[in-house]
Parts: sequence; structure tokens; C-alpha cells
Amino acid sequence: MSTITFITGANKGLGYETARRLTELGHTVIVGARDPQRGQAAADRLGARFVQIDVTDDLSVQRAAADVEAHEGHVDTLINNAGTTGRRAQARDLTGADAELVFETNAISVVRVTNAFLPLLQRSDAPAVINVSSGMGSFTLTHDTDRVESTIAAPLYTASKAAVTMLTMQYAKALPEIRFNAADPGYTATDLNGHSSKSSSGTLALEAPRQFRWDTLAPYKQTIVADGSRVWMYDPELEQVTVRIQSTEEAHSPLTVLTDVKQLDRNFKVAEQGEHDGLAWLRLTSTAKDPQFDYADLGFDANGLARMTFRDQLGSTTDIRFSDWQRNAAIPPAAFNFVPPKGADVIGDVPVITTQPLKD
Ligand SMILES: NC(=O)c1ccc[n+]([C@@H]2O[C@H](COP(=O)([O-])OP(=O)(O)OC[C@H]3O[C@@H](n4cnc5c(N)ncnc54)[C@H](OP(=O)(O)O)[C@@H]3O)[C@@H](O)[C@H]2O)c1
Repeated sequence: MSTITFITGANKGLGYETARRLTELGHTVIVGARDPQRGQAAADRLGARFVQIDVTDDLSVQRAAADVEAHEGHVDTLINNAGTTGRRAQARDLTGADAELVFETNAISVVRVTNAFLPLLQRSDAPAVINVSSGMGSFTLTHDTDRVESTIAAPLYTASKAAVTMLTMQYAKALPEIRFNAADPGYTATDLNGHSSKSSSGTLALEAPRQFRWDTLAPYKQTIVADGSRVWMYDPELEQVTVRIQSTEEAHSPLTVLTDVKQLDRNFKVAEQGEHDGLAWLRLTSTAKDPQFDYADLGFDANGLARMTFRDQLGSTTDIRFSDWQRNAAIPPAAFNFVPPKGADVIGDVPVITTQPLKD
């Protein structure tokens, strides 16, 4: 008999993709979604059954469990996937209502849905509950300056995911007859994060040896400035600045070869890749012990670097196309001197400015 798997928030994103893959593997997937039209449409695409469920609503969750009891009779795997980041806002502007929404959807829902589905799980020979947590809720990763999780301040989402992980551990202790797992899918471009790895465009200014300024104009405004000792990332909408020591960034990022060609030999193995797409290609592989990317491919035409493609350890690929290079353009020094705007939150290695008294 096939495994019966119920997934919340399965109408799109990771929930939908999980439903698709498990269907392919032979599971009987039940698509849980709060919106009947989008839920039904997703279920139709998958050839699965749709059950309406709003994970923040007791009655809706009880109805969903009753529906599954009437149709399938039991559940082998429950995937608590539905989640939200809440609204984009600076930490100081977050309200109780913001917190209620995020904790309700991400954490309290785990208790509500697990409670309603327990009788159905207990009828399975191999019951399992998978709670979709996040590295953003990990105390270790949010303190590790080599990890992107340490560069983001999102109090509600991170705290709610820390709660999801702890809830998972506690349920696992309390109900050993059921396998409880927390899963971190890793960064994936979905509606949750505005598909932030989708294409963006802007301008890039470079000054040898190690300064650069990257202004993304679309779809979001963002400024990245490397001043030679620190890399500043500014999100004007969130009024948030992240600052990191440039050498730490450079140990990992293939982008640094743009400003300091010496980094090529120091930090990367370089192999010629021949010609394709009208460009001559080099492949860089990091020599770092714990590289952040698998490889970076640089494509050159007669005018210089035309494309850079790199794949990170999570399998996401970034493809940068350069055009309209201007050599020796007069760039004002101020372009590489980032001063955090007044009122912006600054996260990271803020420079310590020391002053020495003048000797007479
Ligand atoms: N994407 C990532 O990089 C990433 C990384 C780590 C963890 N995660 C986690 O992975 C899970 C899925 O996220 P995603 O990236 O796939 O996001 P997504 O595309 O925005 O999908 C979120 C899903 O949750 C549903 N949902 C939200 N509130 C709900 C509610 N009250 N009742 C029922 N369903 C509700 C949404 O339904 P509607 O369509 O009706 O809004 C949607 O189906 C989340 O728990 C997220 O925290 C994501």
C-alpha cells in the first residue's frame, strides 16, 4: 500500500515541489492549502486530492483531519510546511500583530495540525511528522559569520523557526512511537523571499585593487560597496545595512577576482574550458577548505569579462552578464566610501574608528 502523505501549504513553492516529487515516488499525496481555487488547481496538476486547510484556524484544521479520516482513514506522513515571513519591516517597527501572524502560521500551527492529525498518524505502521524549519532558526548558523544566516536580521521568522525546531525535538521525546524530523530545505527562490535569486539588473563600478560598488536597480534596490577593508550591503526598503570584513568575503566569493586578479592564483584553481556561446571560458574552483561555491565560470569576449556563472553549495546558480564596460572611467572616490544612512540598522563587523591625539 502506498504511503499517505498530507502536506500543508502545498499549492505552491516548496510544498508543491515536495508533493510533486513524492507523487512521483509513489506516495498518495493530499494537497493541503487554504485557498480552494489555488489548492484545487495545484492538486489537479499533480493528479492528487485537495483538502482545504488554514493552519491558523482550529476549525479549518479539524475539518481537514475529519476529511482525511473519511477518505483515506489514516496518514503515514504529515508535512507541516505552510509558512510565512510576515511583512518586510525594520525590527523597530514590528508589532504584536506581526508577531502573532508569523508565530501562528509557522510555530503554533505545528501544534494545532499535529494535534488534529495524531489519531490518523497513530493508525499508520510507520508514522512520521516532518516540520519544515529553517537554518534561519538555528542558533549555530545565525552566529556563524561564514554563513548567510548570520547576515540577516528577521526577528519574527527566525524566532518562529527556532520554535519549530524545538517543538520537533520535544515531540520526538514525548511521542517516540512517531518519527519527528525538522527539515531545512536551504535557500530556495520562492514567493516567500520574493524569488530574490531571479534576475536583477544594475550597475557595477570597480577600482583596482579591491574596491567595488554594485547598485542593483531592479527588481529591488540594493547597494553593495567594497571599500577595500569592508563589504557593505544596503537594503534601502528595509533600511538595513550588513557589513562584513572584506577578506572574509574574499576567501569565498568568486566576485573578488573582478577587483583583484591576484586572488585568482591565491584562492582558486583555474582550468581552461574552451569556447562556447561566443565566449572563451575559464573555470575557477575554490581552494578554500569549506568553499561556498562549487565552481565559477568566467566567459570572456574581445572586450573582456562578459559573463560569470557560479553555483553555490546548495545547487543554486547565479549568472551575471556584463555589458557596456567603460575602462578608466572617472569614478568619484565617494562611490567606494559607504556611510550607513541615518536610522538604518547596521548588522555585522562595524569598523572601530580609533583616534590618536596629535603630538606637539
Ligand atoms: N524558500 C526558502 O528559501 C526556505 C528556506 C528554509 C525554509 N523554508 C520554509 O519552507 C516552507 C515553504 O516555504 P516556501 O519557500 O515554499 O514559501 P511559499 O512559496 O511562500 O509557500 C508558502 C506556503 O504556505 C502557505 N500558507 C501560508 N499561510 C498559510 C495558512 N495560514 N494556512 C495554510 N497555508 C498557508 C501558502 O499558501 P498561500 O499560497 O495561500 O499563501 C503557501 O502554500 C516554509 O515553512 C518556509 O519557512 C523556506
